[in-house]
This record gives sequence, structure tokens and C-alpha cells, in this order.
Amino acid sequence: MKGPAMTYNFDQVIDRKGTGSLKYDCAAARQVPEDCLPLWVADQDFRCPPCVSQALIQRAEHGIFGYTEPDQGYYEALRYWFSRRWQWQPDLNGFVQTPGVVFALAMAVRAFTQPGDAVLIQTPVYYPFTEVILDNNRRLVTSPLSLRDGHYEMDFVSLRRQLETQQVKLLFLCNPHNPVGRVWTATELRQLGDLCARYQVKIVADEIHADFVYAPAIHRSFLTVNPNLAEQTMVCTAPSKTFNLAGLQIANIYLPGQAMRTAFKHEVNAAGYSQANCMGLIACKACYSAEGEAWLEELKLYLQDNIAYIDQFVAQNLPELAVIKPEGTYLLWLDCRKLNLEGTELRQFMRQQAKLWLDDGFIFGQGGEGFVRLNIACPKATLTEAMRRLQTACQQLR
Ligand SMILES: Cc1ncc(COP(=O)(O)O)c(C=O)c1O
Repeated sequence: MKGPAMTYNFDQVIDRKGTGSLKYDCAAARQVPEDCLPLWVADQDFRCPPCVSQALIQRAEHGIFGYTEPDQGYYEALRYWFSRRWQWQPDLNGFVQTPGVVFALAMAVRAFTQPGDAVLIQTPVYYPFTEVILDNNRRLVTSPLSLRDGHYEMDFVSLRRQLETQQVKLLFLCNPHNPVGRVWTATELRQLGDLCARYQVKIVADEIHADFVYAPAIHRSFLTVNPNLAEQTMVCTAPSKTFNLAGLQIANIYLPGQAMRTAFKHEVNAAGYSQANCMGLIACKACYSAEGEAWLEELKLYLQDNIAYIDQFVAQNLPELAVIKPEGTYLLWLDCRKLNLEGTELRQFMRQQAKLWLDDGFIFGQGGEGFVRLNIACPKATLTEAMRRLQTACQQLR
């Protein structure tokens, strides 16, 4: 893969142990065998772009880390990124910074619904969606995606029925969709938007994976397709997945409608959060830049090559498994239903036999049983080892 055009060495295996890494340092605390290869949580095993580290070092050398507000340059960086990468021109006054997207999801639940109100999700989906709804004593309403010939689709019949009968107040959209890898088309987003308009449902569009979309798919930010829904929509963005900055705790949440923004800010204040992490602000400003873009373009090529490798390996060597080809994200959704392992048996198999620490499909809700999610944002050597382990384990089952 690493041809002459590559500037960054994504093949380099970097030891992350001893950095407090959730992936590499916390197996025992989570009752996972320490010899499992961790390919679960969605962070990358790659270093962030050098322009980010340099900006952080320069800021660290100043030595004073007091309360900090985003400056004009920060907003210019947001403008640069969203207009160039997302073909989106948001009103920069509509952004609110939070320490993460999941925090923003929880604040949205509190700001836009009352205890007992219904919030809808499309399963299988990123499991904190369910957690922030239930942990805040709201009612979970689901509309499972349908899987046809290896391709997931929204089930608009069920969606409409649920919106019509369940008094849904808020809908969480995941685009690109974690874990199934769909990048929703303009037609799908418009159809969803029309339903939300009709039933007066507010929308939280979680677009944290939007920078990982592979041609011919195109990321369409929800409001670019449904500008009429500006007053009832919140869009979640963050540089954290794109540039591997999750530990720096910075997200940019867009609420163009004054009423929703005020209600959201009130909940953020009520949670006791005010100024953002100063290093997160520095990192975001540095990566939303031409250097960040160049790095991302190379990374996307590397990731596409990783996806192709797994796809081919599974097709050639693991007839029991099937890869759901992702249109976006760096997460692969593996169909293991032919292994006929029920409930936690699949987890046992992956951890005890294959020695892989993956995310179990069932934690993503209805429709996730019999699947696992595999993070491919790692050097090819790590994936080769993972596939070797999986093949050996599957051979023993045959
Ligand atoms: C869809 C989705 N939203 C949010 C997050 C996490 O966001 P944060 O770390 O900013 O809370 C993830 C992480 O994997 C994700 O996949």
C-alpha cells in the first residue's frame, strides 16, 4: 500500500501500552484476557497529524492553561473544514462546544424531552444512544434497520408507524451509521426529514464519522438536505474520530435554531460545564487545516486498503463469515450468524478461541445478535494477525 505518494507511515506499529489506553491498558479491569488483540473501541492506532502534535507542544511550552474560549481562528478553522470537506456553510454562531458527542446526546435528551417521553433510534446502532435515553429515564422506541443482500436500509414503514403511534419527541440519527457503515443518501435523509417535519419530531444527527466516507458515497449533512428543519435539528460534529483526539475531549455541536440552542446551553450549564479543554481547542484548530486534510486523504486510502484486505480474506478463507461492506466509518460489521453461536457464546469464541477483543453485536440492540464490530483503524500487520487468529479459531469449529 505504502506507495511513493505516501507521506505518513500508517504501517508503523506503535506501542500504546502504559498510556492509560482504554484499548490496550484496561483488559484485566474489564475481565478480558490480556492476550486478546483489541479491535473494539473506536479510536485509531495511528498518531495524529504532526501539525496537531506541534501545535499542542507549542501551547504546552507556554505553560499556563487557564480557562479558555475558542478564538476567531478556531471558528475560521470550522468554516474551512465544513465548507471544503462537507460542502456545508453553517452559521458559526450556531456552534456550542462540549467535551464530547455522547455528552451532547445526553444534554439533548434532557433539553428537548421530559422524563417518560419517547426517543427513537434505528438499531443496531452505537450503544450509548440507548444508554443516554434510558439513563435519563426516557422511553426507548426503536425502528430496526432492514438488511437485504448485505445492505442495510431504513425501514420507513416501521419508522412512520412508530412516529405516528408512540408520541416520539426526539430521533437520533447516526450518519454515517455506526456499526453498519451506511452513508445515508440525500433521498433517504429527505424522506426521514419529511417524516420528522410531519410528526414534529426533533432530530439529533450524529455525524461524528462524516470524514470517513468512501467514494462513490458522499456525506450529506442533515441540514444541507433538510434546510427547512433548522429550528428542530441539532448536528453533532467532532474532530475526535477523524484525527484520533478522543482523549482531548472536544466536540462542536451545531444548533442553528435559537430556541433549541438556548435550551441546550441551559442543560450544559446545569451539568456544570463551561469552558472547553484548551488543548482540545488547539488540536481542533490545527487539524481543520490543509495539513490535516492531506493527512486525512492518505489515511482514507490506507483504511480503504484495510477494508479491501479483510473483505478479501474473509471471502477466501472464512466461509462462515460475511463482511458488510462499509460506505463510511473505520468500523467493520461482521456477520457471524452462520457460526450458530448464541448470546454470549460468540463473545466467548472471539475472546477465548480467537483471542480477539471485539464489540459484540448484541450490545448495539435489536438486529445486532450474531454480529461483531471490528475496528480497522490500525496497521495492516495488526489486521493480518487478527485474521490469522480468526481463521485458526474457525478451523477448530469446523
Ligand atoms: C456514532 C458515535 N457517536 C459518538 C461517539 C463518541 O463520541 P465522543 O467520544 O465525542 O463522546 C462515537 C464513538 O465511537 C460514535 O461512534
